[in-house]
Amino acid sequence: MSYLIASPTNRLIGTVNAPGDKSISHRSLILGAMAEGVTKISGLLEGADILSTAKAMKAFGADVRQLGDGHWEVGGLGEKGFQEPNDFIDFGNAGTGVRLTMGVAGSYPINSFFTGDNSLRSRPMARILDPLAQMGVKYQMRENGLLPCVVIGTNEVKPIEYFSTKGSAQVKSAILLCGLRADGVTSVIEKKPSRDHTENMLRAFGVDVTIEDHPQGLCASVKGKAVLQGTEVMVPGDPSSAAFLVVTALITEGSDVTIENVMINPLRAGIFECLKEMGANLEIYNERLIAGERIADIRAIYSELKGITVPKERAPSMIDEYPILSVAAAFADGQTIMDGIGELRVKESDRIKLMADGLTACGVDVEEGPEKLVVNGKGAGNKPNGGVSITTHGDHRIAMSFLVFGTAAKEAVQVDEAEMIKTSFPNFTELMTELGASIVNHE
Ligand code: S3P
Repeated sequence: MSYLIASPTNRLIGTVNAPGDKSISHRSLILGAMAEGVTKISGLLEGADILSTAKAMKAFGADVRQLGDGHWEVGGLGEKGFQEPNDFIDFGNAGTGVRLTMGVAGSYPINSFFTGDNSLRSRPMARILDPLAQMGVKYQMRENGLLPCVVIGTNEVKPIEYFSTKGSAQVKSAILLCGLRADGVTSVIEKKPSRDHTENMLRAFGVDVTIEDHPQGLCASVKGKAVLQGTEVMVPGDPSSAAFLVVTALITEGSDVTIENVMINPLRAGIFECLKEMGANLEIYNERLIAGERIADIRAIYSELKGITVPKERAPSMIDEYPILSVAAAFADGQTIMDGIGELRVKESDRIKLMADGLTACGVDVEEGPEKLVVNGKGAGNKPNGGVSITTHGDHRIAMSFLVFGTAAKEAVQVDEAEMIKTSFPNFTELMTELGASIVNHE
């Protein structure tokens, strides 16, 4: 198995493009497969997770083809509907892929068997399958609520009004996608609003989606018996991936890095707010709208950061960015408190634990609570040590976070697996190296 070593680097300079957004890439393939006619996608992230979803859509009968770099075409199933796959569908590491697809598969009269890699098989699925069961979908999974499972779909989906406390776009999206074939209106009310890419993209596919304030939060609704029309999707740059490059520049002295085409949807941009509050020299400019999403270029210049308390309600808008924020916090002056982040324990790994363990090994003072991580940074003049090997448990964001750490620390940091970075950011090492970082792959 190959591993990576990131060594202390002088400075990072340059301009790069963020890779395609993972959330939007999954959705473009899934909605394309459901639609009538052809969907043309440009800028698709060709990460391992997305390739799993592409393969799954083929298994359900859609005609999914790669035309060129990032250019894909999906011949949708439309009225014919999703067909019963003749084998297990293995989603690898892709939580979004499997959870959204369960919602769609449950709305057709077919049986689908789902599984995934070690990490995906340890992540909770009842949060999806319980609401789907209220809609008339049946399922069987292991007693502990984990994959593998079979979803037994129905032609008679019941519309529901579901109150979600988790702030999870995967839960909301699975229910709304299932509700597209119900007889009536399906609504999801979220106390903590999560990313709205499913709602935005459904509109682009011609579906009537309503978003309204509700006494208990924000309510997203779709009318059932909807017909999706194939369309063109331009996938914007992923803010979650851009965040790794931004933080590297902010904590490596002398750096000045620009990342172009980054989506800054407010339900995804919490990390940039935090970094600005920490005193980051961050310029977000050239704002524009592309295919319904706000895009901008981001310039990050080395900054002396200070610790902050991250508001709990910001968590859904930066749920994947806490690992890299805790790296920024390790280089900042003072305490950074990240509370209300229990969801991090059921991501690709237990991210609170792995960040706490890894940062401690690197010489950083941290406190870990059931739903919280506190990082006590010593400031710019007092770089943390590094000089260790990190166990990532196959989690791409843990790996990239510690490679960023190694780029700016006193001594190099090794991460135990290189392969899984392809999940979300296949050209991470390439872009970091292009900017001046020293990251070497050892076979
Ligand atoms: C995603 C939603 C988030 C996020 C994941 C992608 C999506 O998960 O962590 O990487 O595309 O809907 P939750 O919905 O479980 O918070």
